[in-house]
Amino acid sequence: MQINNIEIPKSELNLPKTIKLFDTTLRDGEQAPGVALTVDEKIQIAQKLDNLGVNTIEYGFPAVSEGERNAAKQINDLGLNANICGLARVLKNDIDALLDCDLSYVHTFIGTSPLHREYKLKISKEEVLDKAISAVEYAKDHGITVEFSAEDSTRTEEDFLLEVYKAIESAGADVINVPDTVGVLVPTTTRKLINILMDNLKLPISVHFHNDFGLAVANSLVAIESGASQAHVTVNGIGERGGNASLEELAVTLKVAYGMDLDIDTTQLYNVSDFVSKITGIKMPPNKPIVGENAFAHESGIHVHGILQNAATYEPISPEIVGHSRKIALGKHTGANSLRAKLDEYNIKMDEDQFCTVYDQVKDLGDKGKCLTDADLKAIAVTVLGKTKEEAVKLVGLSVSSGSGKTVSPTATVKLNINGEEKETSSIGVGPVDAALNAIQNLVKGTTNIELEEYNIEAITGGTDALAEVFVITSDEEGNKATGRATREDVIMASVDAVLNSINKILMIKEAK
Ligand code: KIV
Ligand code: ZN
Repeated sequence: MQINNIEIPKSELNLPKTIKLFDTTLRDGEQAPGVALTVDEKIQIAQKLDNLGVNTIEYGFPAVSEGERNAAKQINDLGLNANICGLARVLKNDIDALLDCDLSYVHTFIGTSPLHREYKLKISKEEVLDKAISAVEYAKDHGITVEFSAEDSTRTEEDFLLEVYKAIESAGADVINVPDTVGVLVPTTTRKLINILMDNLKLPISVHFHNDFGLAVANSLVAIESGASQAHVTVNGIGERGGNASLEELAVTLKVAYGMDLDIDTTQLYNVSDFVSKITGIKMPPNKPIVGENAFAHESGIHVHGILQNAATYEPISPEIVGHSRKIALGKHTGANSLRAKLDEYNIKMDEDQFCTVYDQVKDLGDKGKCLTDADLKAIAVTVLGKTKEEAVKLVGLSVSSGSGKTVSPTATVKLNINGEEKETSSIGVGPVDAALNAIQNLVKGTTNIELEEYNIEAITGGTDALAEVFVITSDEEGNKATGRATREDVIMASVDAVLNSINKILMIKEAK
């Protein structure tokens, strides 16, 4: 078999014919700190998971509350394709709660490691065995599918773990699940453990791996390579502590790298991830594989140049495969090609001089640590397009000081070049913007008397470093009117540039008359 052009000898792989995904977003995912889902939210997520094509949905834990039992009944009544499974301790009451909701799939568990036996359960190995067997037999007597987990299996003595799994196999369980409860496995130990279980057990092996060391997906893949035919996953990898194996990462890797035929419609992954993120309030970091905002974003000139020739140069898969989209981000690494591509995308046509002005502004902002959004770029481009070619009034220098109270007034000193002659003045105002605009009005008085008719300011994106876009309308004593627009990282500079832009337009109108 080949994985990404690398030949893997058959002896090293024991891939199952089919692989099932058991989604536990609504149970282990809900155990992530700060997440609590209402019945309605669980229903909506269950529907999305079913459309996506997961094989089993662990919807929750019926014994814990009335709300959980309600959710079980309502999700069960939806008649989804996926199996609807509930969690239960190896207790008759827990299993009864699940049976009362008419669920036909139980995931039952008991801690088997010395730590769990001694400190949590305070019972002997024999008692663990008895409880596990009784629960499996009880559930099977009620005709439901039983998946059994030896909690903390990866820190359980090997011989005892095998004893427990063999006993529940004899008791009639349907699936053996192997939880790496605190995420201590690494690929080598995963392979060893799954090989031992595959050699000694007949039931299908499922894995439930936590991500404490960031290895949940990698370990799940190794388990599958060793014969495990089911993996527990959660959307966005949410779950206890560092979370669980992420559904989107595992599904895409299995499909793309291993060529496995999963039931998952990967084109829905971005949408489902976004939905779960919004409902749970757990935001994805931008660099989250597959679904993060930067998963298909490119900024550096070299990469964007490659992407524009053939996207495969710097993308392992097309974003459409997972319902995402490609982004060409702009910042200090932006090359001219990326910028032209972006402007083309928005059908913004400009001459070479205007292009150079936009390019310089993007680079300049990038050097100041700003990564531009598409909205930022559009605003900059519109501003440049709106600039007059020959400016009669140019800014030479500006300094402002703010102030509060009666003793200190906000003051601005402005130096302008008006038709080749430099002039400077200082003015006060209600704030530094007002002071700067007053100073400009005073300086241009000899040339034209300007009134500010309209002033609008907008932060293009959120955050204190957002670009400010200022739009103004000025008029002169002859009734000439002109708009002015500027986009800068500084509110005062944007205001000054916008007013100068409109003054220059008025002067052009006058000259043309
Ligand atoms: O991580 C774990 O051990 C679990 C159990 C309930 C199986 O989630
Ligand atoms: Zn878990």
